[in-house]
Amino acid sequence: MTHSRLILPSLFALLACFGAAHAEGDANVGKQKSESCAGCHGEDGNAAAPIFPKLAGQHAAYLGRQLADFKSHKRVDPAMNAMAASLSEADIADIAAWYRIQKIKPEQTEKNELGEKIFRTGLADKSIPACAGCHGPSGSGNREAGIPALSSQYAAYLGKTLNDYKSGERGNDANAIMRTIAQRLSEKEIDAVSEFAAGLH
Ligand code: HEC
Ligand code: HEC
Repeated sequence: MTHSRLILPSLFALLACFGAAHAEGDANVGKQKSESCAGCHGEDGNAAAPIFPKLAGQHAAYLGRQLADFKSHKRVDPAMNAMAASLSEADIADIAAWYRIQKIKPEQTEKNELGEKIFRTGLADKSIPACAGCHGPSGSGNREAGIPALSSQYAAYLGKTLNDYKSGERGNDANAIMRTIAQRLSEKEIDAVSEFAAGLH
């Protein structure tokens, strides 16, 4: 009797802890689980080459969504589809929690007036909304709304992914929000706004 009265509450407490860790992800566990990612994305999520996105500091819910979409092939990239195939929901939450608390390294970029204009005010004559309206004036995104941070990301990756939205190769954005915007951007405008956003911090 005494025994079970002692054990039961502690078991519930343990389960409650586990539940919370599962939902939020455990960064320490995520560090170990992200070892296979380091070759491309860097040990701390600061990728060594600009063809690989930096993951450091990115909102965990956004990272988790992208990994789930790579796993289900809703977002297509051969390397990432293979990497995400074996990740469980708990793995994804833990890995996302680890990258979220890493610090992204800033980028050095040139002043870019066209990019700044697109980012801050949009281009009314082309029905292009200000990026800042959703991604925030400093490009830090919005955790609750699932909007990723763009600041300090490699300009080359931002440009690549905007071109993929434009061509429809990346098509996992809800309501085609980014595809619609990217279709209206010229190549020059994509380069300019990518350069500007990368320089934000
Ligand atoms: C062989 C290189 C490689 C490895 C290993 C790799 N990735 Fe990637 N990852 C990429 C590339 C390339 C992209 C960009 C894909 C694209 O352009 O759509 C990417 C994109 C991502 C994104 C989307 C980022 C964003 O801003 O939308 C996430 C999240 C991600 N990887 C997580 C991981 C995790 C977690 C692992 C380990 C389990 C991993 N990657 C291993 C190459 C790699
Ligand atoms: C109405 C809100 C909204 C506006 C305006 C907007 N975005 Fe986005 N953007 C999003 C959302 C939401 C996502 C994430 C899509 C997903 O969940 O897959 C996103 C994703 C992105 C990504 C992918 C980031 C990554 O790490 O892979 C880039 C790059 C991007 N937006 C650039 C821009 C630029 C540049 C502009 C301005 C020309 C802009 N966005 C305007 C909502 C918006």
